[in-house]
Amino acid sequence: MMCKWILLSLLVAAASAIEFTNPIVPQAPDPWMVYYKGFYYFLATTWDNTITIRKASTLAELKNVENKVVYTFDGHTAWAPEIHQVDNRWYLYYAACDPNTQNYGCHRNKVAESVGDDPMGPYQFKATLVDEGDPMELDPTLIKIGDKYYLIGSTQQLYIRELSNPFTLAPGRKAIISSPTYDWERVWENINEGPEPLYHDNRTFVVYSASSCNTSEYKLGLLEFVGSDPLNITHWKKNPTPVFQTNEENHVYGPGHNGFFKSPDGTEDWIVYHANDSPNSGLCTMVRSARAQKFTWGDDGLPIFGVPVADDVELQGPSGEQ
Ligand SMILES: *[C@@H]1O[C@H](CO)[C@@H](O)[C@H](O)[C@H]1NC(C)=O
Ligand SMILES: *[C@@H]1O[C@H](CO)[C@@H](O)[C@H](O)[C@H]1NC(C)=O
Ligand SMILES: *[C@@H]1O[C@H](CO)[C@@H](O)[C@H](O)[C@H]1NC(C)=O
Repeated sequence: MMCKWILLSLLVAAASAIEFTNPIVPQAPDPWMVYYKGFYYFLATTWDNTITIRKASTLAELKNVENKVVYTFDGHTAWAPEIHQVDNRWYLYYAACDPNTQNYGCHRNKVAESVGDDPMGPYQFKATLVDEGDPMELDPTLIKIGDKYYLIGSTQQLYIRELSNPFTLAPGRKAIISSPTYDWERVWENINEGPEPLYHDNRTFVVYSASSCNTSEYKLGLLEFVGSDPLNITHWKKNPTPVFQTNEENHVYGPGHNGFFKSPDGTEDWIVYHANDSPNSGLCTMVRSARAQKFTWGDDGLPIFGVPVADDVELQGPSGEQ
């Protein structure tokens, strides 16, 4: 019975491989995506006072569906939104500026909560997640280590804080878990940002973006949690080399600020990221487009992202799409 079921699922998956091409969505920096109950939910930077989500059953459809406003807030310049499910609610993490602020130091990490269990919301504001008196911080994400939740964010370095629930900071201040120390993290500006949790075989990683988004040296690096205390930087091990970067042959420049998602059948790991198609266009602007590709795992248990795939190459969609 079990065998028959597996065979049937394999047949269905094989029969329904739906092709797509990159970019999956134009003008969508800092993309993030989750697959949930039959649909992908795609978010990206809006640079305004809204958060929008595209909902589609295949990657190929994402660029054609409505980019629906699911949340509007009093403030401006929303960057890098993500939604994470905890129990039966979705938590929308984003960085934005409060009203009457207008400089590049104005971003603070925020969280809103879904009213029900629908990723499309509606969402209600819950909290600003920064330490008292703290300067700018961006790129909030939620990571689970053991049975605790932590918020990771960035301002040129990566910071972690313990949460007592998805919208409340636990007592204590933030701790640094990564600084730009290698030359490849220090091109044009010294930057670590855009942290994203990645879990595999009981191991916990954080993939992050390094160097300035203003150059084609923007790229991904990898950290692994190798100890017992997430707030202790010595319990995080940094990979000495980047894990994903510009590929001139494929004309994909400055790939970075990514998210991870599973194929509909749960068997494949995928990365969604933004990049530019020339070394001096797009840079840090809304022109950056979102791309997706499958990745695998090495014998050493580390992710293998390969190289960014060229625009307009037909790729097989994630396994189980229909
Ligand atoms: C993996 O994690 C589970 C649950 O925490 C634990 O029971 C198991 O021992 C771990 N396995 C390894 C190989 O670390
Ligand atoms: C981005 O780079 C260009 C030159 O490549 C420079 O003129 C500009 O000031 C840079 N912008 C930022 C925000 O660093
Ligand atoms: C951080 O971890 C190291 C290695 O386990 C330990 O020696 C050090 O005391 C820890 N620091 C703090 C502040 O807990």
